[in-house]
Amino acid sequence: MKISEAMTAAINDQIKAEFDSAYIYLAMSAYFEDCGLSGMSHWMQKQYKEEVEHAEKFIEYLYRRGARVIIPEIARPKESYNDALDVFRTAYAHEQYVTSRIYKLMDMAESEKDYATQSMLKWFVDEQTEEEDNTGGIVAKLEFLGNDKHSVYMVDRELSAR
Ligand code: FEO
Repeated sequence: MKISEAMTAAINDQIKAEFDSAYIYLAMSAYFEDCGLSGMSHWMQKQYKEEVEHAEKFIEYLYRRGARVIIPEIARPKESYNDALDVFRTAYAHEQYVTSRIYKLMDMAESEKDYATQSMLKWFVDEQTEEEDNTGGIVAKLEFLGNDKHSVYMVDRELSAR
């Protein structure tokens, strides 16, 4: 069954959102590197790579459905933050936003009875639960420890192991 034009456009939009996410995290990595927080920088670099993989998953999917992929322009990301907690709060809010986008795609696939797209999106629904858990977990940890230099240093060391 042919994928609809509306669904193709919505997935192309999501490809852009994933590349935008990648750039947001790459800019966060650069910010942390500049602050001397190499563990957090490393964590964000991994996150950047995951987002590129997400974009590639959607691209591969459209290829398999015989649909046209449009390689998007990437928005310039924010480059400075107040502190580590500010960065992770922003990342957490961003992941919640991405989750809402994935849910909207799922709603659309359901209303179109596009079972193949629903099946593909299931992976992203699960992935978003994990992404929110990861970023939200770091926010909770920094809030609990107090966001002072000593705590940030401890969390930085922990995140270097990702
Ligand atoms: Fe691709 Fe972090 O969502």
